[in-house]
Amino acid sequence: MPDKSLRHTSERLRWKRENKDGQTESAHSTPSNQKDNQLTVDKNNLRLKLLDSFPRKRDQLLPCLHLIQHELGYLPEWALEVVSTHVMVPESEVYGAATSYTELRVLKPGKHVLRVCTGLSCSINGGDDLAAAVSEELQIPPGETTPDGSITFEESPCFYICALGPSLELDGKWTGRATRETVMSVISKARRS
Ligand code: FES
Repeated sequence: MPDKSLRHTSERLRWKRENKDGQTESAHSTPSNQKDNQLTVDKNNLRLKLLDSFPRKRDQLLPCLHLIQHELGYLPEWALEVVSTHVMVPESEVYGAATSYTELRVLKPGKHVLRVCTGLSCSINGGDDLAAAVSEELQIPPGETTPDGSITFEESPCFYICALGPSLELDGKWTGRATRETVMSVISKARRS
């Protein structure tokens, strides 16, 4: 049986060797290409992180995406490219996965993310009305961010706290048995911070 840790280490070393020249170049950067250089650094760091965290197998696609979503708050295009290389899956397939799950997002969110559950249990208990109240207050439909970049509004199919519906979530913190007043309260809180 191949020694996975050895293979892993050799991949890391090979990758570092192959990127040595790129790092040397970045030492002579001018301000105009600092952004590109930062992107290169971000990509390199992500490659190393994925090598450290996940085997290079296609069934690791979703774990990779979840890790990036957790760390960056979304899945930028450059990160999808890195994942594609790591798990050896075409970019189109990686993008397809990234856009197929409501808990993943490919667009950069606002400073705060407000999600309303519109799953069946919450829906019959007023979840749709909560979502409508959020849209009305923020003046945006689900899936969009306020023009000032402060709040992204999303709908969710379930937070798995169905018995407490209707429910909403601000920046990962759930509130059950939510009302219109709850909506106004969490939006006000988000706007103040
Ligand atoms: S349906 Fe809303 S938490 Fe499950």
